[in-house]
Amino acid sequence: MQLGNGTNVMNETKIAFVGAGNMASALIQGVLSREVCDPSSVIAAEPSEPRRARLQQAHGITVTDDNSTAVRQSDVVVLAVKPQVFQGVLEEISGALRPGALVISIAAGVPISKIERAVPTGTPVVRTMPNTPALVGEGATAIAAGTHADPAHIDRVCNLFEAVGTTIVVSESLLDAVTGLSGSGPAFVFVMIEALADAGVQEGLDRASAQKLAAQTVLGAAKLVLESGEHPGALKDRVASPAGTTIAGLRALEQSNVRAALQNAVHQAAQRSRELAKK
Ligand SMILES: NC(=O)c1ccc[n+]([C@@H]2O[C@H](COP(=O)([O-])OP(=O)(O)OC[C@H]3O[C@@H](n4cnc5c(N)ncnc54)[C@H](OP(=O)(O)O)[C@@H]3O)[C@@H](O)[C@H]2O)c1
Repeated sequence: MQLGNGTNVMNETKIAFVGAGNMASALIQGVLSREVCDPSSVIAAEPSEPRRARLQQAHGITVTDDNSTAVRQSDVVVLAVKPQVFQGVLEEISGALRPGALVISIAAGVPISKIERAVPTGTPVVRTMPNTPALVGEGATAIAAGTHADPAHIDRVCNLFEAVGTTIVVSESLLDAVTGLSGSGPAFVFVMIEALADAGVQEGLDRASAQKLAAQTVLGAAKLVLESGEHPGALKDRVASPAGTTIAGLRALEQSNVRAALQNAVHQAAQRSRELAKK
């Protein structure tokens, strides 16, 4: 079924979230508020009693402390536990998977091959790399298909993650690059916002006003890039009038090697992701 806003309703599909911490809660909130699925179709398996109670009260979904119970009744299983406990959870739920159930992992650094080895042969697996702005519905999620995931599975996963932001489909080999850019990127942008706010305070603004202006400037500039579809360089040129204030600031940025600093940050984060994947 297709809604007016283009979202597919998956009410017939039962979805289990195994681990219902920050990311899973954001996803649950997103899919329910966007009516991608109905509360009666969602079950969350989570060891923390207060968290289970909060989810049940806030969303009217089913909760359990037993992972296999959730998995046994679901067509889609979202594995949203930390990488440290991931393997144990995988082994625990593998026998409870329904034939053909779609397994979606959001765990950083866990390769698809590792998941495929643990689940019944032929199970469709999709690995994703979301980021923390998903908590406010502005995430960026990269999606990579496993051996048995077909385009319909990928569509289904895109549909879920579009409830908390934007999605792109990539091959798994690019997920380290994604981790360096959009996975770690929010931290780089937080540093930029903090530095811009500091600079505003230095120039005489009060802290709250400086932070509000800094954050909104980053948000607004990002929105302009996305909505205009223009090259960021063209948008930058338009703000910089001859002998004006902006070009003076841009010169200082170039002297500080800000482009190289950002490129190095993404490169180092991607490299670290590759190193961790080998462990
Ligand atoms: N946060 C991010 O920016 C981000 C970005 C991309 C990917 N990810 C990935 O998303 C996954 C979840 O991250 P998160 O930030 O949402 O972590 P989180 O808030 O710690 O959520 C994980 C949840 O899993 C629960 N849990 C622990 N052991 C379990 C078990 N054996 N069975 C079922 N549930 C269990 C935890 O409960 P307790 O707290 O009681 O242990 C917690 O509620 C991680 O694999 C991470 O790599 C996160």
